Amino acid sequence: MRPAAQTTQQRGGIDSGRDFLHLAAILETQLLWPDEAAAQASAERLASALLPAPDAVIELHGPLGAGKTTFVRLLLRVLGVAGRIKSPSYAVMEPYDLPAGGTASHFDFYRFGDPREWEDAGFRDVFAAPGLKLCEWPEKAAGQLPPADLQLFIDLLPDDTRRVRAVGSARLVEALA
Ligand SMILES: Nc1ncnc2c1ncn2[C@@H]1O[C@H](COP(=O)(O)OP(=O)(O)O)[C@@H](O)[C@H]1O
Ligand SMILES: [Mg+2]
Repeated sequence: MRPAAQTTQQRGGIDSGRDFLHLAAILETQLLWPDEAAAQASAERLASALLPAPDAVIELHGPLGAGKTTFVRLLLRVLGVAGRIKSPSYAVMEPYDLPAGGTASHFDFYRFGDPREWEDAGFRDVFAAPGLKLCEWPEKAAGQLPPADLQLFIDLLPDDTRRVRAVGSARLVEALA
């Protein structure tokens, strides 16, 4: 039996909450970012797996200052976004057109509280449409978010190195590994 099919079978009996990614083959790898250049290298590898038409939900987990926004900025830059990339913490979402085609949406759910906002702000439509969705503080919108294609769990070590656990679809995790 192929590993992917095996994985699906193993997961078959599990109640499929959003903690369980919807893809058949789930991989995990660990990365170390001693500096932003290392994060940049990961952004480049991830971008090459996302192109030509980025369509994925990527969650960025980690405490304040972990480097979530920084990684999103690096990734959007690699994908060709020019101009200012501001943190969406107040607006919750910042939309971008990608020069190669398609869209990216950068979310920061830190201040997201009211589930009605999900409808009112049009987030349901954004997640129903193709495009790249980059989500900071996804745990604050856990009841609304669809399953992720990639989850990055960023830990800030005492020497400022970022230790990152990447969990998700084989395509994206293998690109990062
Ligand atoms: N990979 C990294 N290596 C070194 N410094 C980083 C890295 N990522 C972020 N930083 C620094 O940490 C600070 C906080 O990063 P930020 O991306 O705003 O965190 P978050 O969005 O997780 O709260 C920034 O000032 C940035 O310069
Ligand atoms: Mg941030």
